[in-house]
Amino acid sequence: MCGIVGYAGEKKTIPILIDGLKRLEYRGYDSAGLAVISKERRLEVRKSPGRVSELEATLKDMPETGNRIGIAHTRWATHGEPTKENAHPHIDCTGNIALVHNGIIENYEALRTYLEERGHTFISKTDTEVVAHLIEEFLKEKGTTFLDAFIKAIQHIKGSYAIVAISVLEPDTIYASHLSSPLVIGQGEGENFLASDASPFLGKASEVLYPPEDEVVVITKDEIKLFDLNKNKRDPVFEKLEGTLESIQKGSYSHFMLKEIHEQPERIRDAMRGRLLLREGDAKLGGLEPIWGDIVNAKRIIISACGTSWHAGLVGKYMLEEIARVHTDVEYASELRYRNPVFEKGDVLFVISQSGETADTLATLREAKSKGVTVAGIVNTVGSTIAREAGVGVYIHAGPEIGVASTKAFTSQVSILALITLAIGRAKYITQEKGVVIAEAMNALPEKVGRALGAEDEIKSIARDFKNSKNFLYLGRGANFPTALEGALKLKEISYIHAEGYPAAEMKHGPIALIDENMPVVFVAPQDGIYEKVLSNIEEVRARKGKVIAIANEGDDRIKSLADYIIRVPRTLGWLGPIVNVAPLQLLAYYLALERGCPIDQPRNLAKSVTVE
Ligand code: M6R
Repeated sequence: MCGIVGYAGEKKTIPILIDGLKRLEYRGYDSAGLAVISKERRLEVRKSPGRVSELEATLKDMPETGNRIGIAHTRWATHGEPTKENAHPHIDCTGNIALVHNGIIENYEALRTYLEERGHTFISKTDTEVVAHLIEEFLKEKGTTFLDAFIKAIQHIKGSYAIVAISVLEPDTIYASHLSSPLVIGQGEGENFLASDASPFLGKASEVLYPPEDEVVVITKDEIKLFDLNKNKRDPVFEKLEGTLESIQKGSYSHFMLKEIHEQPERIRDAMRGRLLLREGDAKLGGLEPIWGDIVNAKRIIISACGTSWHAGLVGKYMLEEIARVHTDVEYASELRYRNPVFEKGDVLFVISQSGETADTLATLREAKSKGVTVAGIVNTVGSTIAREAGVGVYIHAGPEIGVASTKAFTSQVSILALITLAIGRAKYITQEKGVVIAEAMNALPEKVGRALGAEDEIKSIARDFKNSKNFLYLGRGANFPTALEGALKLKEISYIHAEGYPAAEMKHGPIALIDENMPVVFVAPQDGIYEKVLSNIEEVRARKGKVIAIANEGDDRIKSLADYIIRVPRTLGWLGPIVNVAPLQLLAYYLALERGCPIDQPRNLAKSVTVE
């Protein structure tokens, strides 16, 4: 949720921290702050409510810094409003320690009482501030080093955290630890970095370390050391830092969301590369090999996720049941984790997550693993907590997704589910001949998504006509019911227009009461097996004067007399349809939000990765 950056090196620290915060701003953007150590060995802290640009404006009077270390934070508020006082870094009573945190300290109230009884004064309403005071308190004990006090503080807190602290007592050293919140260390030449993900040091560091949870990382410009909580030294394992600077820049696009929408053909190709076997009419997912026998013989597949990833999972249910003939349940991770679910022999759980950090999805994964269920991850972010803890799984290879509204991750996730569907189907009963037909249809998807995105001008004009609408209804059937849900979610998130997604035939059981001449109804209406039924649903809306916007196949003439607006998409196999049909819905949400002047990449109240439950 929040973004953390740290730097140890001799370059100008503040611009590095600000650049890092800007790259992480998608994680949270209601307040920001930084702390460095001045040449006189004083902590210099600046904080501001609002965006990183507002923090930047407060830096003009910064004194010369030692340019040795610094930490910074961009916040998504949990405890306490987004004010300057509640912004990180938080400082102890002596003013010697500065600390930033991502996550939630669940026992902060008890710790705060304990510390207040010992004379500590608190400035903020956050859960985080207790940790700075705890370190201060433990440092009072004779012979205690900063490392000792830091470890002791970590041992006293319950909850999830990535905590990074600096102190004037050791002006060259950054201390950090994490549990159920991401933390990545970047190793450069004579400089080292840390952050919530690797984007702040892309182009600057060459190697990356994903520190194990509940260990302490001690960083100076020349060294990265790891300790367990008994102060035993551990050997850090570095990996080559993958990823390009270009992948986290907007390029010529006005928003990351638009860039990511247009990247989809290429990203879908990346998701399928080396995995789709055209000649064999089959698919092979190396990451699933260790549990492939369990997957093929699964009595039930459970897919658990949140938000857009949950919608991808729901498309997966339609695919897996229709094509691979395997019973599939799709569960909101936030519900599954607290339901004491019944898992049985023969169950296989897939968790889906773009960020690989979503707290509820991670908890589901842990719950299922603890009960002995076979689990696998379908994840975008390489090295993320879910990817590592799942152990087995598939990377979707969508590249960094920075727009808060998920777009390319959805189509890549669904593409992976399609590959899994094909592979299970082939292992069970689909003939090679039929497999080849499916594989060819999948291979054509990138080009078809590209064509669907070509309807941009019609979509812009529809957005102009409906920019003042207060509500939208999105309807679809079969695998396109989740497409409708996803279209509605995109619209709500970035344009703040209220939107509902429904199975088209459910409309008459309630939502039909909403339909009048002011209600735009988006129908996902490709010529698949349920097309005729959808046409009847469109008639029902027209009879009540609703405005029909149809996502319809190229060459479909029947739709002309039924829809007020038509957005054309190429035809594909019915169960693959969501990958193509969602593209215009993403663009429609984008252009409606643009017409309404909304902050598209950073919509209010949202954050890219939801690391709190
Ligand atoms: O990173 P994840 O895929 O686990 O995130 C799940 C949801 O938080 C995410 O899809 C959210 O709903 C997006 N804002 C949707 O655009």
